[in-house]
Amino acid sequence: MMLRRLFLVLAVVCCIPALHAADSSRSAVASAHPLATAAGTATLARGGNAFDAAVAVAAALAVVEPYSSGLGGGGFFLLHRASDRHQVMIDARETAPSGIEVRHFFDAQGRPIKDATTRGGTAAAIPGLPAGIAHLAQRYGTLSLRETLAPAIRLAREGFKTDQRYARIAKLREAMLRATPGTAVFLDDGRAPAPGFMLRQPGLADTLEHIARDGAGGFYQGAVAQDLVAAVNAAGGIWRPEDLAAYRVIEREPVRIVYRGAAITAAALPSAGGIALAQVLGMLGHFPQADVQQPEAAHLVAEALRRAFRDRTRLGDPDQVAVPVSELLGKNKLNQYVKSIDRNRATPLPPVFPDEGGAGSRNTTHFSIVDAAGNRVAATLTINLLFGAGFVGGGTGVLLNNEMDDFTLRADVANSFRLRGGEANAVAPGKRPLSSMTPTFVEDDKGVLILGAPGGSRIISQVLLATLEYLRNPQVDIQRLVAMPRYHHQYWPDQLEIEPEGFSEQWRNALEAKGHQLRVVNRKWGNMQVVFQPKGEGAAQAASDPRGSDVAWY
Ligand code: DON
Repeated sequence: MMLRRLFLVLAVVCCIPALHAADSSRSAVASAHPLATAAGTATLARGGNAFDAAVAVAAALAVVEPYSSGLGGGGFFLLHRASDRHQVMIDARETAPSGIEVRHFFDAQGRPIKDATTRGGTAAAIPGLPAGIAHLAQRYGTLSLRETLAPAIRLAREGFKTDQRYARIAKLREAMLRATPGTAVFLDDGRAPAPGFMLRQPGLADTLEHIARDGAGGFYQGAVAQDLVAAVNAAGGIWRPEDLAAYRVIEREPVRIVYRGAAITAAALPSAGGIALAQVLGMLGHFPQADVQQPEAAHLVAEALRRAFRDRTRLGDPDQVAVPVSELLGKNKLNQYVKSIDRNRATPLPPVFPDEGGAGSRNTTHFSIVDAAGNRVAATLTINLLFGAGFVGGGTGVLLNNEMDDFTLRADVANSFRLRGGEANAVAPGKRPLSSMTPTFVEDDKGVLILGAPGGSRIISQVLLATLEYLRNPQVDIQRLVAMPRYHHQYWPDQLEIEPEGFSEQWRNALEAKGHQLRVVNRKWGNMQVVFQPKGEGAAQAASDPRGSDVAWY
């Protein structure tokens, strides 16, 4: 009944164009919210570089898109510094608290406890975003945190008018927000607000001030940290002050891919995204270049994705488990995979996992920035599902993530994105859960494309399809890249998922004739944000996904 009602709510909500991109001359910013984009462009206008702008945008998104990302979450920042072409991924992924063990997620009968990885204290991992922005500012920025956090502090303190999207998402989560501590601030007198509601978050403004003044220490130590630990433990979690004090971001070498002459740089472990992209492109490079919207090419893309996602079960936090990356990306393996692809038939892979449903609503955010000097940032940030674990840390205004759901509890237990995994992604103290977030740069003769998207496991196929279309098409049409219909395969369940209305009957028949099991998902997915800077003197461009979408069932 509940599901049916939700489905109705979703069915009547049409997609609102989300043109939140701004560009002028050689710099451009694309984010999921116009106020966050404005914070980025204002930072560039006052002389900040792309890294300063990234701090401003990430902090503003924490305020204006509180259901997607924020100080209580984490993410990955992929950077390119123009002066020396230094490229790095800042891993600001959350870590498992030291007191949490996998047994906390199972009952005495060995059954997973409902919602234990998605709601309340046990769901929340130690946040990484505050350390991420502090590191970005200190190591790569030119402005002070006081300057770059000013727009976010103002938006939190003075408030901003919520939009349709906020109204829709708050409605979906109304019951949860009414029931949990500290979340009344997101509602209008206990109800999901109508568009135009003035949302003020004084607690969050104070926490941002702490960070502006004391850097990461303003969050991971002192009053804010104390408040967070107390609130998480009161909500059933096990956080220790030292878990927060010990949190560090990690600079990682991104995954580098050469595909048909283009240089692609993408997120490294603990994201599965770069490795999956490298594998899929490594396979597709053996076939003629083709339009990924055509059924023949879609079949090959689905087959390549299927194989890459099977290997995802071997991935995990590289600081805690040995992941055979060179084997997975090696010629031997990819040649074997290519040989196993039948151009006419879907490969029925052994069903290692029993089929089982799973549904939920998600969120995350991506933004892309290039400045006039050519510095770039692709950042995908999240608190995981809509409004995260659904509670706020005491007076901090910080909404806690539910990133513990990205761990693999047991081989037969799927997470909210219907992902299964292996031992490599098991819960362990201080460990980073495996992610699908894939901030990416694509460089070819035309210029550089900076892209990424939310969407859980479907992030990887979104970035893949846009990359393939960009590289195939001599004309750059970034609006098309963000708007193009999407499909997805993740090995298990054995389904080729497609967006509604995206594909003709003829297309669907062609794929079914090859043996694919199609699943038309109830709603379009993704909220891709793309920036393109052409080679030479041309103006940079930005595009935001017209879907502005945040809710699609898995
Ligand atoms: O890291 C991950 O892969 C997930 N926590 C991302 C969640 C997400 O994209 C939800 N968005 N729609």
